[in-house]
Amino acid sequence: MITRIPTAANRLPLIGHGVQLARRRTEFLASLTEVGEIVEINMAGMPAYVLTDPDLVWRVLVSESHNYLRGRMFDKMTEVLGDGLATISGEAHRDTRRILQSTFHKRQIAAYGPVMSSIAADVAESWRAGQVIEIDDAMNDLTARVVNGILFSSDLGAAAADAIQRRLPVVMRGMLTRTLIPGAWQLLPLPANIRYRRSIEQMDSAIDAAIAAYRSSGADYSDMLTTLLSLKDETGNPMSDQWIHDQVITVAVGGIETTSAALSWCLRYIGTRPDLEQELHEELDAVLGDRPVELGHVMALKFLGRVVQEVLRMHAVAVFMRRTIGPTQLGSYKLPASAEIIVSPYTMHRSARWFPEHGRFDPDRWLRSETQNLPKGAFIPFSAGHTKCIADNFAVLEITLALAEICRRWRLRPVPGQAVREVTTGATRPNRLTMRPELRSPVTE
Ligand code: HEM
Repeated sequence: MITRIPTAANRLPLIGHGVQLARRRTEFLASLTEVGEIVEINMAGMPAYVLTDPDLVWRVLVSESHNYLRGRMFDKMTEVLGDGLATISGEAHRDTRRILQSTFHKRQIAAYGPVMSSIAADVAESWRAGQVIEIDDAMNDLTARVVNGILFSSDLGAAAADAIQRRLPVVMRGMLTRTLIPGAWQLLPLPANIRYRRSIEQMDSAIDAAIAAYRSSGADYSDMLTTLLSLKDETGNPMSDQWIHDQVITVAVGGIETTSAALSWCLRYIGTRPDLEQELHEELDAVLGDRPVELGHVMALKFLGRVVQEVLRMHAVAVFMRRTIGPTQLGSYKLPASAEIIVSPYTMHRSARWFPEHGRFDPDRWLRSETQNLPKGAFIPFSAGHTKCIADNFAVLEITLALAEICRRWRLRPVPGQAVREVTTGATRPNRLTMRPELRSPVTE
């Protein structure tokens, strides 16, 4: 039996659901769970199908993934990421993922732990009580330093690290808007378009210069760029500079904004909910005492783990895409060839069916039976299947270490009168988050 696919309400001629996608993206996506298991929307003339049913998500990402390639969003990302792991499909993806796996292996991630906690300690130590801090910027700074610290430990990479830190936010903003609102406006010499192109060029040339400098030095700096330079393809040849360039920029695009968004939301909830803050402080005192956080503490920080998990549920990535290779049967639905499919972790995590009171921030939902038996595909902060985030363990470790280091020293209080809303670029982050640190208790080391 073939089931008809419903269309989302309020579609306008020409622009389709462009207004909802531009102005109220997350509310619009979350509302689709009420419309159907799969819902047709229109992105300024281009139809796309949003999945809201866990079984359909699982088929597309895992059990029937051979029927799909990456979709339109990834075509746009190719302008920036080239043949980086996050944009390629099929055999090329499988080979690249195999080659890169060692850089994100559990043992390797453990070696990144001290870099992560020392950068977090440095950021937390730089704050003064009562100072007004733009937390969203500070967290972006922190995660950019972590990614850059892991990519380039030598000064030969300093200019590349600086370009990534300063230029990437402009590129991230441009990339999602270009995907969701297609059109010739992208080619016009508008200031935003010029800034976008220039930022890409600056990052590209700084990364190329770092690769050339590392190659000619030939030294082992025990960082990710040294590892990338040492990797070999299946015929035993070293990887090309362009391949290395594409993986470096992919790690920066994948790893900075996503983790900084999660960190910012965690700090907001902890700073505005005294019940959460108290439970967290009790846990930090019991596990860390007066000591700085280390890798060995992470497993014992169970409440903090639930806070992180709940943030990954509530403020998940809004959209990633797939495209059917040919005419495709998906469950009881029929899709044409080259149909654009939207997988939205955000939408899935806002389903009242799987997450009762889904709009409530409730870390303890992860202790209750309702979350123990979730269907596959209902909770997908890092996607699933062969394209699942290669750095999921890296990300959770980084977020946990940073929060422990910040929260053992500071209580962060929101500056009154600020309405915080979600904005989506690569991640779903707060538009702005201003807080003041209050010293919790003297920290001895
Ligand atoms: C909270 C933090 C993070 C979230 C929510 C997140 C989310 C995701 C998602 C949803 C995908 C899969 C997209 C798809 O299936 O097409 C993905 C892939 C990827 N992520 Fe992450 N990510 C995070 C952190 C990171 C970090 C820290 C890095 C690098 C240091 C990273 C690097 C990548 C890469 C390279 C891919 C491509 C994997 C592949 O296609 O094989 N991510 N991420």
